[in-house]
Amino acid sequence: MAAVDSNPPSNSEVVVSVRGLTKVFKDFWNRPKARAVDGVDFEVRKGEIFGLLGPNGSGKSTTIKLLLGLLNPTKGHMEVFGHSPRHVQTKARIGYLPEESYLYRYLNSRETLNFFGNLFHLSKEDRHNRTEQLLEMVGLGKTQNRAIGEFSKGMQRRIGLAQALINDPDLVILDEPTAGLDPIGCREVKDLIVALARRGKTVILSSHLLSDVEDVCDRVVIYYGGKIQAAGTLKELLVEPNTVRITTPVLPKETLAKVLETIRKDISTGEVRVDNPTQNLESYFLDVVAKAKQSAKETSGAQSGARVAEYLRGDQPAQPAKSADKVLEKLSLPQAPAIAPATTPAPAKPAINEVKLDALTQATPATPAVPPPSETKPEAKPVDLSKADEKLSSLLGGKK
Ligand SMILES: Nc1ncnc2c1ncn2[C@@H]1O[C@H](COP(=O)(O)OP(=O)(O)OP(=O)(O)O)[C@@H](O)[C@H]1O
Ligand SMILES: [Mg+2]
Repeated sequence: MAAVDSNPPSNSEVVVSVRGLTKVFKDFWNRPKARAVDGVDFEVRKGEIFGLLGPNGSGKSTTIKLLLGLLNPTKGHMEVFGHSPRHVQTKARIGYLPEESYLYRYLNSRETLNFFGNLFHLSKEDRHNRTEQLLEMVGLGKTQNRAIGEFSKGMQRRIGLAQALINDPDLVILDEPTAGLDPIGCREVKDLIVALARRGKTVILSSHLLSDVEDVCDRVVIYYGGKIQAAGTLKELLVEPNTVRITTPVLPKETLAKVLETIRKDISTGEVRVDNPTQNLESYFLDVVAKAKQSAKETSGAQSGARVAEYLRGDQPAQPAKSADKVLEKLSLPQAPAIAPATTPAPAKPAINEVKLDALTQATPATPAVPPPSETKPEAKPVDLSKADEKLSSLLGGKK
């Protein structure tokens, strides 16, 4: 088992603090049924992207629900922004994307965001502006008149993400944010997460997609059986200190032979390997789509979004929301009450739109050229922060 080191690296404000957190689900007769979370400790600081990893049933979603005050802990202590998770002003500063969407299936995207904006007591103007920006950001601007019940899984995820950001939260908690998204959507969500963190928001996410976690998270904890088995920065956890990788442009055969000969003189045992680094499938896929876009192919469904809503810049105070807890309660309902279809507007016919991938191609990083020798995975494509940030800055009128 790897050493457990859940200490965050910086001295910035502690946003979430969890000590000895335990949740035991009990049956009708109060007998223990499942020890979902078992003596968990960690801290998350402002601006961090913190990943909860672990196999099915290991306690990730239960931890998230405890942090949101939707479940009561059996034991242990938790603070979010220095208060109990049930503190109403604390809840107003949190955005939550649940594991499953529990949105009203007969409302369209615009009505849904308006509904959640209302729960947060946003003014009509704020609701309107944020709805516009969020729908554009998640690529649902052209399908906003269709009922959410008709949406594909990935489109439901996108509207769920927009809903989680309507209150301009300081802490964003995302349970499997990329589940069901196509690779373009995944990349956009990852870029969005990085952009939010760069602007001082704190993000906690759970995911099974390890490459996604690797691309965005500063620190992770790995759960098994409700306990944290390993914790730390990805570099700490993944580095292989006993090997070195040197990457160079292609060398003439003779030079390579000489280098290998020199190396072998110094190494009595152990493998010396020479190969060509490969790019990962995601970067290859995005290149193919970018080329298709250049030849002006058309598609229906979700569009490429990724324009970070202007109001999410992080230099504006979060809107106070008296009844933020109502939002969390709504999201935690096992089944949202259906609204009679007769009382809702008929869903408009979907428009077939041309895919606009400009934002995506701008944000798509180039394949890493020469990684530092200590890197163990040159094929993993990091988020290109300079380009994403450049794009954001231009969208935000040069401000950060
Ligand atoms: N409401 C509940 N009542 C009883 N047991 C529960 C409840 N919610 C979760 N559990 C149990 O707690 C354990 C942890 O579940 P949890 O949903 O936190 O896992 P997870 O890590 O999010 O899994 P997944 O990756 O499948 O989403 C499981 O054994 C699960 O059956
Ligand atoms: Mg879960």
